[in-house]
Amino acid sequence: MAVDSGPVTPGQVSFLLGIIPIIVAWIYSEWLEYTKSSSPSKVHSDKNLVELELTREDERAVLMEGGVTKPLSMKLPSPSIKTNLIRFLMMEDSFLLENRQLLRAMAEFGGILFYFYLCDRTNLFADSTKSYNRDLFLFLYLLLVIASAMTSLKKHNDKSAFSGKSILYLNRHQTEEWKGCMQVLFLMYHYFAATEIYNAIRIFIAAYVWITGFGNFSYYYIRKDFSLARFAQMMWRLNFFVSFCCIVLNNDYMLYYICPMHTLFTLMVYGALGIGHNYNEMRSVMALKIFMCFLVFVLLWEIPGVFDLLWSPLTSLLGYSDPAKPDLPRLHEWHFRSGLDRYIWIIGMIYAYFHPNVEKWMEKLEEAETKRRRTIKTSIVTSALIVGYLWYEYIYKLDKISYNKLHPYTSWIPITVYICLRNFSQQLRNFSLTLFVWLGKITLETYISQFHIWLRSNMPNGQPKWLLCFIPDYPLLNFMLTTTIYILISYRLFELTNTLKSAFIPTKDNQKLFYNFVAGAAISACLYCISFILLQIPH
Ligand SMILES: *[C@@H]1O[C@H](CO)[C@@H](O)[C@H](O)[C@H]1NC(C)=O
Ligand SMILES: *[C@@H]1O[C@H](CO)[C@@H](O)[C@H](O)[C@H]1NC(C)=O
Repeated sequence: MAVDSGPVTPGQVSFLLGIIPIIVAWIYSEWLEYTKSSSPSKVHSDKNLVELELTREDERAVLMEGGVTKPLSMKLPSPSIKTNLIRFLMMEDSFLLENRQLLRAMAEFGGILFYFYLCDRTNLFADSTKSYNRDLFLFLYLLLVIASAMTSLKKHNDKSAFSGKSILYLNRHQTEEWKGCMQVLFLMYHYFAATEIYNAIRIFIAAYVWITGFGNFSYYYIRKDFSLARFAQMMWRLNFFVSFCCIVLNNDYMLYYICPMHTLFTLMVYGALGIGHNYNEMRSVMALKIFMCFLVFVLLWEIPGVFDLLWSPLTSLLGYSDPAKPDLPRLHEWHFRSGLDRYIWIIGMIYAYFHPNVEKWMEKLEEAETKRRRTIKTSIVTSALIVGYLWYEYIYKLDKISYNKLHPYTSWIPITVYICLRNFSQQLRNFSLTLFVWLGKITLETYISQFHIWLRSNMPNGQPKWLLCFIPDYPLLNFMLTTTIYILISYRLFELTNTLKSAFIPTKDNQKLFYNFVAGAAISACLYCISFILLQIPH
């Protein structure tokens, strides 16, 4: 397959213009550190990232203000406000030494994106086609489950926040493990083009969205932390990496539809709980809020025309044209994806709201006499199994198109059944597979990276129809090698996103956060303008 890397965009040039000085500065700072450590008289000055955050921010504040009056920034505690950008541009030794770790993280991030481009948009590596074999698919998945059960099954002794007893219901490990299990199947579905499990994949995506609703609701309901910093961190976590992917690879945001979808639902939960959050304790207010959530989504998605009316101003952000299907309207993908899971996040919120009650009830159940406990548990398990079976028989088995029509209204059934079965006994509850827990933490990174360094899309906005191929003619060895590199890089990306987040998003100082934001926007705009002009110059 011939690679179509598309025309060079101003975004790509800006990225280069931004990253090259950083890489140069980083290499120079490493060299400085090396020479300094060979002369022992000087003090080691590697600062931690909390301090780095200060200096970086100042550097940006300087840039952003230019010649404008700066009474506000004068109040900032750091002495080097105005000089930091100049210090960076002048490659001042002490500045580079102080920021060496941050520069390294940024350079590594840039390097990884460069690798993305090499893998997906150049002919350097080969590509191969997907092939599906149910036997192999199940073999690989079950092998992974067995291997992780034998090596990483772990018992947890977490205590409940309410009672000090063993946690009963929906603990963090279990949701991460659940995400991990589903993610592996989801990724393998893409790698092997396992179209026969399409409906199951829809359920997995719904379960992620359910977890988003559940986790975010619990967090905001209990912690009541609606601060700007928290909000910014959340947005950074969800969108930092994906925005760079879009810039460097010239893709639409909607190509990675999980990101806009989770951003929307996270914002909805944040908004639902944040508006009038002083009244969240009142049952009636909470009932009203949940009712309003349903109402908004019914209005938006069930009444024809409203969706387009509302979202059309955002078409440039949320539009997507698949090169393979150029006739579809730009907003079609967004309508389809967000529509499939439009209610399940609300269900997640409702489950989270009643979670303490269910937990108490389960504690009582565990203390009840054996016979009564057995009866109750058996009836719960039996009814879950029956409901699950009926759902499988009458809904899951439908073909893709008719299934998708029912999905928004029925996806809560298998999710509820899973939750009941996963938790019916104390033993099952306390154990989790650590390997899957680990994979569950990096789902966002594995989701985004798969498009480019595991699979290949070969063109801007293309769906990943091919596989990245390092070892031609040995598909399984190739699978092993690319998977290893891909998982390692995804994990690094997870760490880098967090490192950079703590460097650029101060937790307590909203003014500083605002400066960082404006300065970041200003730097990006400058780089973009320069790149745009550079590209206008005829060759
Ligand atoms: C139930 O299952 C979910 C999903 O794995 C899990 O997160 C939760 O902790 C489990 N516990 C109970 C008792 O529901
Ligand atoms: C909120 O949802 C997003 C998206 O799934 C997730 O990344 C984040 O960790 C959630 N926040 C909490 C506090 O659970």
